[in-house]
Amino acid sequence: MIGDLFPPDVVAVTDAELGLDDASLVASLYPVEIEQIGAAVERRKVDFAGARACAREAMTRLGVPAGPVLRGGRGMPVWPPGVVGTLTHTHGLRAAALASAGRVRSIGLDVEQHKPLGAGVLEAVSLPEEAEWVRAAHGEVASIAWDTVLFTAKEATYKAWFPLTHRWLGFGDAHITLVADTYDDGVALGTVRSRILVDAHAVDGGPDLVEFWGRWAVWDGYVASAIVLRPAGADSVGP
Ligand SMILES: CC(C)(COP(=O)(O)OP(=O)(O)OC[C@H]1O[C@@H](n2cnc3c(N)ncnc32)[C@H](O)[C@@H]1OP(=O)(O)O)[C@@H](O)C(=O)NCCC(=O)NCCS
Repeated sequence: MIGDLFPPDVVAVTDAELGLDDASLVASLYPVEIEQIGAAVERRKVDFAGARACAREAMTRLGVPAGPVLRGGRGMPVWPPGVVGTLTHTHGLRAAALASAGRVRSIGLDVEQHKPLGAGVLEAVSLPEEAEWVRAAHGEVASIAWDTVLFTAKEATYKAWFPLTHRWLGFGDAHITLVADTYDDGVALGTVRSRILVDAHAVDGGPDLVEFWGRWAVWDGYVASAIVLRPAGADSVGP
C-alpha cells in the first residue's frame, strides 16, 4: 500500500517485505548507527533499525551501494550522494522511500495508526480552516480519522521541507488541502496539497518551496501521507 503513494521512480520498502525478526534488524545496524542509537530502549532500537533495513533494501533496488543512514541535524536522515529519501515508523510498520536526486528533489513519508488524535490535538496542529474541513469531512465519512490524515500530511510536509531549508516548519506554517479520490472496502486514497505560508527560501539552490503535492491513504489500521517534490521544471504531482 505504501508503494501506491508514490510514482514509479520512488522506491518504497516496508519491513514486512524483508522477513527479518527484531533481533536480525538490530543486528543489521552499522557500528556508526549503533553509536547513535545504542543507549535507546529496545523498541526504539528496533524501529530505528527496521527503517534503516528498509532504506538499505531501497538503496540496493535503486542500484546504489547500501550503507549506514545516520541522523543529521534536527534528526534529518543523511543519505548517500545522489539519493534523497525519508523514513517512518509506527507500531507494526517501518518504512523507507528513496529516489535518485536527479529525478526527485525531496520526499516526505509519515505513517500513523488509523485512529483519531487525542482530545485537543487537532486544534493544536491545524489552522482553523483545516480543523473546520476535518469536522465537515467527518460528518460525511465518519469511518476515516480525517484529523490523523491531516496530521500525517503535516509531518510528511515537514520531512520533505527540512532537508531543503534546514529550518523549522510549525504546524500552522503550511495549509493542507486533502482530496479523497477513492474509498472502497476500508481502503481510502487521495491527494495532498501543502501550501507553505512562511519564508519558502530553499538552501539547495532550487526554487522556493511554494507548495508540495502528494498522496494519502488509509488501509488496514494505518494512515499515511507521502510528499514527492520534483526538481524545477518537472511535474511535482505523484502517480
Ligand atoms: C520529525 C517528525 C516529523 C517525525 O515524525 P514522527 O511521526 O514523530 O516519527 P516517524 O517515525 O514518522 O519519523 C521518524 C523519522 O523522521 C525523520 N526525521 C526526523 N527529523 C527530521 C527532519 N528534521 N527532517 C526530515 N526527516 C526527519 C527521521 O528519519 C526519523 O527516523 P529515525 O528517528 O529513525 O532517524 C516529528 O517528530 C516532528 O518533529 N514534527 C513537528 C514538525 C512538523 O511536523 N511540522 C508540521 C509542518 S506543516
